Amino acid sequence: MSKVLGTSIELTGGQYTIQGLPAVEMAERFGTPLYVYDGDWVNTRYSELYDLIAWPRLRVLYAMKANYSPAILRLLLENGAYLDTVSPGEVELALKIGFPPGRLLYTANSITDAEMTEVQSKGVLLNIGSLSRLEKYGRAFPGTEVCLRFNPDVVAGSHAKIQTGGDLTKFGILLQDLPRVLELAATYRLSVVGLHEHTGSGISETDKVFQSMRNLLSIATPEAFPELRFVDFGGGFKVPYSPDEKRIDYASFGAQIRTIFAEFCAAYGRDLDMYFEPGKYVVAESGYMIVEVNTLKNNKGRLIAGTNSGFGHLIRPMIYDAYHHIVNLSNPHGPPRTYDVCGNICETGDRFATDRVLPEVCEGDLLAILNAGAYCCAMGSVYNLRPLPTEVLVHKGQATLARKGLSNVELADEILRTYE
Ligand code: LLP
Repeated sequence: MSKVLGTSIELTGGQYTIQGLPAVEMAERFGTPLYVYDGDWVNTRYSELYDLIAWPRLRVLYAMKANYSPAILRLLLENGAYLDTVSPGEVELALKIGFPPGRLLYTANSITDAEMTEVQSKGVLLNIGSLSRLEKYGRAFPGTEVCLRFNPDVVAGSHAKIQTGGDLTKFGILLQDLPRVLELAATYRLSVVGLHEHTGSGISETDKVFQSMRNLLSIATPEAFPELRFVDFGGGFKVPYSPDEKRIDYASFGAQIRTIFAEFCAAYGRDLDMYFEPGKYVVAESGYMIVEVNTLKNNKGRLIAGTNSGFGHLIRPMIYDAYHHIVNLSNPHGPPRTYDVCGNICETGDRFATDRVLPEVCEGDLLAILNAGAYCCAMGSVYNLRPLPTEVLVHKGQATLARKGLSNVELADEILRTYE
């Protein structure tokens, strides 16, 4: 029995299973393309962060942008989770699912006055990332509590498009603007209860995380911010996507974080809450997209496996050159061959993997694309008018429908309804 990467899929006796359920049987039962989420693995990943970062006043806010499937959010709600939200739509969904407003933080950028008012009126704390918005917030809601997002001045993340720190990005208030922040906070009697930074996504260099923490903490003095309740260090925890990547030693990472924060709290004069906002760490390894190979080509020796899904369903390889591990569910022990695994969208870049060695693939084989729980279905579209896949939740050994994908007729009807 062996697990693949940090996921929960296991190869047992010649077949791949998730919580003991054969993946092939789920594909046959629900049809493909199909997203399968292991809900218990989501909760395991969420909860283990409390052990790995053993600060007694830790709060883990799941970044729901990574996967907003209500089935997953409900499990996390039962598990006592907090949420990082980035749009009024996310706030609305979280509240409807039953999250109390106090368990949400709202960190959006380039927001409008209407969004600000909408979210504030729901009792959700706003995390503000520009001087301009801070002034507008203060004018609209003087005397209220607020969190402030600073740019940590550290560049990190697995791809240029998902690096958030550094003065070339649009995120956060520059640390050097602290004097103006303090003026605005005083003018509008704002109570700054939290400070925030987010450095990037998929950060492999733990030193950069520590540096970002230190940079933010350097301005978190009791003189500047006497009313702090928490400091939020964002998300970005990397998990391995390919067999070449090692898992970060999160136990020693957590211990180091705790030391940095304990020293800070001693200097600040009291213990504060420490927040993190992981998305990928919580859900990436719990998701699988199962696709069926329907076309094999041999282009002068180059083997191309065409599948019944495409970048509308999983776009990370196309936009971030992201590696997603693929297993052949139908033929796990076949002889190795090298394939380009492509989709069904009319664009050349529609490729899940290039030059990928897989156990021999035949037409009709089912492939599982791993680490598909974060930023995959959530970034999906119906480009080429291919409906989004059905989603299934596996919980306590049972697979249940989380969302039924639309049929082609239903999608066409929906378009006509919304356009006419
Ligand atoms: N907090 C803030 C303020 C964020 O902007 C993000 C992600 C997170 C937390 C969660 O970061 P995570 O732990 O998931 O790395 N679509 C990209 C990732 C975009 C991340 C955007 N912000 C991808 O597929 O890699």
